[in-house]
Amino acid sequence: MAKVEVALGTIPEGKNVVIKWRGKPVFIRHRTSDEIDEANNINISSLRDPQADEDRVKKPEWLVMIGVCTHLGCVPIGEAGDYGGWFCPCHGSHYDISGRIRKGPAPLNLEIPEYDFPTDDTLVIG
Ligand code: FES
Repeated sequence: MAKVEVALGTIPEGKNVVIKWRGKPVFIRHRTSDEIDEANNINISSLRDPQADEDRVKKPEWLVMIGVCTHLGCVPIGEAGDYGGWFCPCHGSHYDISGRIRKGPAPLNLEIPEYDFPTDDTLVIG
């Protein structure tokens, strides 16, 4: 299985990067403390695909997701939409700062790939 290594020191707080893994985009966001608070400050039972932020991340400051809309597979746009996360322009799905679906036709949250942090500043996807 192909793995991809990412040097986290190159991603400033509050920024997204997109890498390719197994032919798919993977979104990596270095979240701010305000964004982490926002991701946790929600009534989980109100979500379409109920999932706590802590069940979607290994370290709160690093959100790692497969960048494929769970509706029909378009690539959502970062720092867009009504919930401070991602917006899929194909049919208007809005994802929050944890990548959870909040509005629009997508049925599920953005998928989380297998990943690990072999060192404090290295992320390995796959
Ligand atoms: Fe994203 Fe339809 S593919 S909203």
